[in-house]
Amino acid sequence: MCGIVGHLGPRNSVEIVMEGLKRLEYRGYDSAGICFVNEKGQFSVFKKSGKLENLQALIAKEKIIARSCIGHTRWATHGEVNDVNSHPHNSEDIALVHNGIIENAEEIRTELLAEGVRFQSDTDSEVFLGMLTFYTQKKKMGLVESIAQSFKRIRGNSAFVILNRATSEIFAVKRGAPLVCGINEISSEVLVSSDPYALVGVVDKLYFPEDDIICYLSAANKNLLRFFDLNLVPSKRYFSKKQEMSFKASEKGNFEHFMLKEIHEQPELMRGLVQFYFHGEGKDSLHGITQLRPERIIISACGTAYYAGLVIRNFIETFNGVSCTHELASEFRYRKPLVNPKDLAVFISQSGETADTLAAQTLCKELHVGTLSIVNVEGSSLYRQCDHNLLIRAGIEVGVASTKAFTQQVLTGRILSHVLAGHLNDKEKTNALIYKINTLAERVDSLLVNSGLIREVAQQLYNKKGFFFTGRGPYFPIALEGALKLKEIAYVHAEGYAAGELKHGPIALIDHEMVNIAVMGEDLFEKSISNVQEVRARKGIIVVIGPESHREEIKKISDHAILLNLEGLGEFSPLFLNIVNQLLAYYVAKCKGTDIDKPRNLAKSVTVE
Ligand code: F6R
Repeated sequence: MCGIVGHLGPRNSVEIVMEGLKRLEYRGYDSAGICFVNEKGQFSVFKKSGKLENLQALIAKEKIIARSCIGHTRWATHGEVNDVNSHPHNSEDIALVHNGIIENAEEIRTELLAEGVRFQSDTDSEVFLGMLTFYTQKKKMGLVESIAQSFKRIRGNSAFVILNRATSEIFAVKRGAPLVCGINEISSEVLVSSDPYALVGVVDKLYFPEDDIICYLSAANKNLLRFFDLNLVPSKRYFSKKQEMSFKASEKGNFEHFMLKEIHEQPELMRGLVQFYFHGEGKDSLHGITQLRPERIIISACGTAYYAGLVIRNFIETFNGVSCTHELASEFRYRKPLVNPKDLAVFISQSGETADTLAAQTLCKELHVGTLSIVNVEGSSLYRQCDHNLLIRAGIEVGVASTKAFTQQVLTGRILSHVLAGHLNDKEKTNALIYKINTLAERVDSLLVNSGLIREVAQQLYNKKGFFFTGRGPYFPIALEGALKLKEIAYVHAEGYAAGELKHGPIALIDHEMVNIAVMGEDLFEKSISNVQEVRARKGIIVVIGPESHREEIKKISDHAILLNLEGLGEFSPLFLNIVNQLLAYYVAKCKGTDIDKPRNLAKSVTVE
């Protein structure tokens, strides 16, 4: 989705904003632009559709130095992808960039047109600029007052960053969309962005404003950053923390793609999670939830996080004996769900900014249900809105296709189920859990150094017509996640199915050009084999990802067998098999030559509904 960066300070703001936009490329976009105050005291605006390199080429010809700049990568919602609709939008005195959607933009545009305000683009974002122009010029209001007035008027989730030409100062405000500010007091720099990643290495303190809070970034020495509510009263409605993310975590190192690097990070992250929750700071957040005894658990999320939730539902049912429902956030939020205050609603999200997940959380809060997040980004909207939070500690995930976040979400879900079962103080059970996670980490380590077979299978199959990922019981969510990974980065048709469902319809699609990736473990092994037989009888190509202990049976019925040692992994066997699916998707995409880290049409964090 769109990315926003604004910078004010003694160094060249244009360079810092361009670097910030570069880091936000992973979020997905289709055009980019910047605006700054030039040495004549006027706005200079550069914007270009397509990749950031196009914008870079445009400004490379200029010699630019500016002390204040705003920039944007746009993921089109209102108005087609072209230079005019790209951000920033500006008048002579005000420039702005926008993330999100103004739902009542057309109504406001009509009113402004009647007042003589004119527009260049088809975007809803320019309507906000029109309002600011109207209030400052016709109503003679100050800029900050106009921002407050205009922001009260719009509906929908949005974040704006606004540059004032006269003072070079920057304002930012948001509702239901991500926004973070950061300061470096030593260098007197202040930044704002839709993503903390853009701020790494420049600031040392982060501030996450709440909704309807105006952030005022100025160059004044002791007052780099101030906050006001929409009545312009100074406010403390923000969450602040030290900037801890490191550059190392955000670089590709020796890996060809971030996705591959992130797949390889998993064993270390698993160990880190154990360390954090059982021997480190994370203990406190676990102690904070030991008293929870929900009658029912409702899990809600989107995409990969939703599939992680399916695995976690199995944990809750198996280890807690608590009823657990599992909901797509984008559907749940529009139902009239029958919930009660004795339930616990669990929201899973890497970014903590997914619009539908946030809306589902708000709905639960309104219905007086306690909320808990399993989330990666500390300080994100979901993190701030939930009553309890468990961080998944995956570090920054740059690859658009989620890999390590899925694994960490599932493991964190298992730790949640352990605590809710009252086992946190049970040494034996806790040690057994830790041992199992560490064993999983070791097995993944050795899988990663022996992934040649997975690459070969990908090379042989990448051109086939379609892929059915199948699984039963705990392996069914892995089939769904495997199919999602393959389609999003390799652009091949893939479906995830409960293996027992194939014969109820989709088996009609099976022929010699269709591949069945059958994911199976010890549970329901024989039933899974029978399902594979059904596909084989129809000449489908069979790949089994399954337990080494059943080598002979698997070899007999498959064209390709990827066998793993699942012994001792218990409920984590599905997670282990999922790593094979991640690598398979990666290598198929590589054979196809797609843009693996930035697949077409996708955005890392889906902040529109
Ligand atoms: C797929 C993927 C998406 C996200 C989904 C939710 O690889 O990454 O399906 O899982 O958009 O995003 P978060 O977890 O940020 O809420």
